[in-house]
Amino acid sequence: MSEQRMQQQIEAACAHIAQHAESVRHSRYRQRYHFMPQCGWLNDPNGLIYFKGKYHFFYQYNPYSGFWDRMFWGHAVSEDLLHWDYLPVALAPSEEYDDHPKGGCFSGSAIVIGDKLWVMYTGTCNNGNGFEQSQCVAWSEDGVQFHKYEGNPVLTAPEGVRPDCFRDPKVWEHDGLYYMVCGASRDGKAQALVYRSADFLHWEFFNVLAESRGEWGYMWECPDFFPLGDKYVLMFSPMGGGERTSVYLVGDFDYETGKFQWSTSGENDWGFDYYAPQSFLAPDGRRIMVAWANSWDWMPTWKDWGPTYREGWNGFFDLPREVRLLPDNSLQFLPVKELRALRRDPQFKDVLELQPDQEQSVTAGDGVAFELRFTLDLEHTDAEQVELSLRCGEGRRTVCTLDLKHSMMYVDRNNSDGWSRGVSKSPLFVRDKTLLDVHVFSDQSSLEIFTSDCTTNHSLNVFASDAQNGILLCARGGGARLLSLEGYGLERTFC
Ligand code: FRU
Repeated sequence: MSEQRMQQQIEAACAHIAQHAESVRHSRYRQRYHFMPQCGWLNDPNGLIYFKGKYHFFYQYNPYSGFWDRMFWGHAVSEDLLHWDYLPVALAPSEEYDDHPKGGCFSGSAIVIGDKLWVMYTGTCNNGNGFEQSQCVAWSEDGVQFHKYEGNPVLTAPEGVRPDCFRDPKVWEHDGLYYMVCGASRDGKAQALVYRSADFLHWEFFNVLAESRGEWGYMWECPDFFPLGDKYVLMFSPMGGGERTSVYLVGDFDYETGKFQWSTSGENDWGFDYYAPQSFLAPDGRRIMVAWANSWDWMPTWKDWGPTYREGWNGFFDLPREVRLLPDNSLQFLPVKELRALRRDPQFKDVLELQPDQEQSVTAGDGVAFELRFTLDLEHTDAEQVELSLRCGEGRRTVCTLDLKHSMMYVDRNNSDGWSRGVSKSPLFVRDKTLLDVHVFSDQSSLEIFTSDCTTNHSLNVFASDAQNGILLCARGGGARLLSLEGYGLERTFC
């Protein structure tokens, strides 16, 4: 009966998608090589995993409109992280524990147990106690069709935790036991709670993995916890954490006590459009992380979700990034190497001298979907700032300023497209350095800028016209020398 209810919801969703996918495919703002839905709304990545020879992306999904609503889990698979095949919706709200009309099946994660794929997600409902959230599980033999566990929910909010702030389980296995971390709010402070289980179905509270004293808000959404080198990393997206969208902590985890002792913290990304990242392991051992390229209306820098709802869709993922641990325990986030396969029309220049205040144009692909890299030779640069203007044309541009004088980086989208707004900013550590690397990925509706060995990254959406295809460089307050300039067009993966 209950299987049937979910099946009906899935069939209705798939029929709707089949009717609307084609028009979205030809829409003006659709991305060319970033992962996005066939139609409708997408937010968090869920259940990212490599299973039976394929990468699986699940995602928070409302197939029916370009706005957030009752959540399903969308689903797609890929062999190379670039080209994706959409599969039927994997989870649909159907049970009294996950059928809140403004909730549904919230975020979660996946794990392979034996030869089955299991997922744990947050069910949302209202049984007279407000917006209640509980953890639920489902399994699949083929990785396509899922069965919700009859004993759901497997966990409800513990005493003292707000029932509407207990969500987004991330699961892993260690030494024959299963562990799960989820976000929670207690006494107005955010917590990451850790649970454990011998069979994935019966869970016991283990400890508070880490908590905010207020500096990181009142609720942590989508926590992720994983080993990296000889350390553990906790990531989360803080609600009430000011302009921070996604934070990491690096430290040591004690499997005896369930406590995480961290010593390093940092930002996963400093742009406006990088939220709820989730990581997974590639078969070659790389830790890869994927985030939703947008933000929520409660964030201080939020303007709106962009104009694409008019085309019947909204949301895409930022590029998959490999996470690496540096000797000082900070993290590097490198665009995955698979992306190199998309390169077309290479352009190289060994040296480019910028004269003060003279704009210089450079070429990379068609100036819309492209990759651009260069190294700033700081020993031969006396400019106070170097400006990189992207998607220039029709009097508009997005300006990335590398402020060498003040060790800051800015990305200004106030004149990007007549729609977007705001300036993202971050420190840029150039003191005592001789080189500064800059690496840009531009797609139809987004910019991702990686600097300082991919430790300082800004991801922002812009909705520029195709005529905005100029790339300009300019040194201010002195000259600048650029080395090893590389430009590439990037091939379309979706159409
Ligand atoms: C994060 C989030 C999660 C929740 C989901 C709902 O972006 O708010 O906490 O599970 O989105 O779609």
